[in-house]
Amino acid sequence: SQILVLNGPNLNMLGAREPEIYGHETLADIEAATRAHAQKCGLGVTFRQSNSEGELVGWVQQARHDRAAALIVNAGAYTHTSVALLDALLSCDLPVVEVHLSNIHQREEFRHHSYVSKAAVGMIAGFGGFGYAMAVDALAHILKQ
Ligand code: DQA
Repeated sequence: SQILVLNGPNLNMLGAREPEIYGHETLADIEAATRAHAQKCGLGVTFRQSNSEGELVGWVQQARHDRAAALIVNAGAYTHTSVALLDALLSCDLPVVEVHLSNIHQREEFRHHSYVSKAAVGMIAGFGGFGYAMAVDALAHILKQ
């Protein structure tokens, strides 16, 4: 099965972006590690990143047509603002695992609430890029059931 991994705004800047919070790994590094891990689980991954809310919504709408079996979503700051992304995730009828590199509950109050969580099976936060591999494991388990 194929897992669609959607990354929101500013995640293209990983490596250079606030490394004390997000680490030194680039999104390409995370993609390579996630793909290698998924392969061991017999899963494929399609990695995408956009700074545009509308583009992310479009990708969620297309997920079924693109034959995705599940989604991993790190919506960046849209996590805390986007009802549009929530609505798209609610209607896609695929299992969603939410990922954040940082532990959003340890940070500013405005990062504590997530709209994405309302559409997700669960959330992994605070483990850096390794969280994506953890999300693959969670989905491998869910897809087996
Ligand atoms: C983030 C946390 C968000 O609050 C922030 O806006 C991001 C990254 C994370 O992965 O820790 O862009 O989603």
